Amino acid sequence: MPHELAAQLDWLRGQAGLVSGGAAGIGKAVTTRLTAAGAKVLIADIDVPAGRQTAEQLGAGFVAADLSTPDGVRAMMAAAQHELGRLDLLVNNVGGALGPTYPQASPELWMRTLDLNLHGVCWPSSSPCR
Ligand SMILES: NC(=O)c1ccc[n+]([C@@H]2O[C@H](COP(=O)([O-])OP(=O)(O)OC[C@H]3O[C@@H](n4cnc5c(N)ncnc54)[C@H](O)[C@@H]3O)[C@@H](O)[C@H]2O)c1
Repeated sequence: MPHELAAQLDWLRGQAGLVSGGAAGIGKAVTTRLTAAGAKVLIADIDVPAGRQTAEQLGAGFVAADLSTPDGVRAMMAAAQHELGRLDLLVNNVGGALGPTYPQASPELWMRTLDLNLHGVCWPSSSPCR
């Protein structure tokens, strides 16, 4: 990491962060930056092998959770409380389309997409404030 960027990110040192969908893609990239800057990070993801591998690689924690379900979000928030003790950073990364979009998507895929975006995105945002 360039020296100037590292200095700008120094405030992250010691911060406690939760990254949903952190096993791969953008969430993994964010986790890479956060852990490199000295933050303590917990990854939540439905993909257990990738989540474990990324967590081990980056020195993060991992919780397996299907964030399209209320139980999955509850498990994620409970693990964050247990492993981090507090939450300074919430990276609400999961979401978006799960496959073909309207009108090609089936009603079932629509519902799974809505569930992921409502449970996985909206609920974690309000939970730490309760
Ligand atoms: N990639 C892009 O070009 C792009 C563009 C705009 C917005 N986004 C948004 O950025 C975010 C990340 O995009 P990405 O391309 O890295 O995503 P991705 O498809 O690579 O998935 C990221 C992670 O989410 C996990 N995940 C999927 N469903 C899950 C579930 N039900 N519960 C828990 N974890 C689940 C996956 O296992 C994966 O590790 C998404 O919200 C996406 O909509 C992405």
